[in-house]
Amino acid sequence: MKGVILAGGTGSRLYPKTRNTNKHLLPVGGVPMIHHGIGKLKEAGIDEILIVTGKAHIDLMIEELGFGGALGVRVSYEIQEEAGGVAEALGLAGGFSGGEPVAVLLGDNIFSDSLEAHVRPFLESEAQAMVFLKRVKDPERFGIATFADGRICAIEEKPSKPVSDYAVTGIYLYKPQVFSIINRLKPSERKELEITDVNRAFLHTGLLDFRILTGHWIDAGTHASLAEADRLFTPSVSAEVRHS
Ligand code: DAU
Repeated sequence: MKGVILAGGTGSRLYPKTRNTNKHLLPVGGVPMIHHGIGKLKEAGIDEILIVTGKAHIDLMIEELGFGGALGVRVSYEIQEEAGGVAEALGLAGGFSGGEPVAVLLGDNIFSDSLEAHVRPFLESEAQAMVFLKRVKDPERFGIATFADGRICAIEEKPSKPVSDYAVTGIYLYKPQVFSIINRLKPSERKELEITDVNRAFLHTGLLDFRILTGHWIDAGTHASLAEADRLFTPSVSAEVRHS
């Protein structure tokens, strides 16, 4: 399996911190945010990684990661010209995937669960997509999954009146069919290709599997959540939290 980290977007919710840098280079737990995703892919046995990012700060990203050698992985890059949505960014990874399945991380998602145990069962299953859910206190910020009879029956992006508190996190496993689904997507009202529409397409064909995360998970895309991620994932603190 190959790995893709989506690290484009505008970072507008973190302005002015993102005025001169890419959001995914801001520090979390003493290292640039992007290192957390790379570490998680590596932990799952995935060492060929594509970073999709915007033009504005790609030089800083390359300066930080190079070709990944120092981190024990192989890193390559793809540029997303405009912030056209998470699914558009993933669509740029079609050539890199080369018909292989991909583990996809949103670069601002910081989490403690290991993905290692989920990769093989997914590859051996009929499922074409696997999403990872986490209960949250602020469901209006996320894609939200609703259940019926123990199965996901609907996913809604940032619902104004959420009927569930299970967020669909920015951690996804996909088989290559994902790229033909992205090719057929239409932009949403906010003029983005939405990852929620991709996951809905798999849901409607009965090919979407899911897991529930048990550890910490944070979307570090706002000032408050970035500070919280930094607190939880600073090594000495996170060791204490995990062992308490
Ligand atoms: O964090 C989980 C949530 O992430 C999910 O629950 C939502 O379903 C999903 O849509 C996404 O929502 P956000 O509003 O948090 O997405 P955001 O625009 O912050 O982008 C998430 C990451 O994707 C970010 O780290 C940068 C990357 N990205 C985003 C856009 C819009 C790109 O690489 N290109 C893009 O065009």
